[in-house]
Amino acid sequence: METEQTLVLIKPDGVQRGLIGEVIARYEHKGLKIVGMKLQQLPRDTAETLYAIHHGKPFYDVLIEFIISAPIVALAIEGRDAIELVRILNGETDPRESQPGTIRGDFSINITHNIVHASDSPQSAQRELEIVFTPEERYKYHRMDEAILHPSVV
Ligand code: CMP
Repeated sequence: METEQTLVLIKPDGVQRGLIGEVIARYEHKGLKIVGMKLQQLPRDTAETLYAIHHGKPFYDVLIEFIISAPIVALAIEGRDAIELVRILNGETDPRESQPGTIRGDFSINITHNIVHASDSPQSAQRELEIVFTPEERYKYHRMDEAILHPSVV
């Protein structure tokens, strides 16, 4: 188990449906730490950089137009195994395959409007965090429940 940081975007559908607080609560209640957060409408070039891996795929143009269509909330999330834990909390990319209890399983039926994006590996987390956050925008602080969440290291 390793302390990691990962990038989450609450997509325009999550923001426009009033789900910002609900989504953030899922991560916070799990024991993950929000170390960076901002509301912003992504410039097209930033969206294209973030999603460069999908360039040329059939859904690429729709994905880019959607992600820049309205503000998103970007979160830098820290915790032990944060990358995997966030992806478990999010559910499958296709909400129709997501279990109830996950964010996508509870709130979405559409693969484009699937509420959240999260980094899928340590390499993509580092790359994506650096695209969206400056080092100063990721903060260091202690949660008061860390001794309970991680008794072996406190
Ligand atoms: P996300 O985790 O943001 O990464 C890329 C996004 O492309 C994905 O979530 C979906 O919203 C969107 N997408 C649309 N169609 C597909 C597809 N067939 N496979 C994967 N992602 C898709």
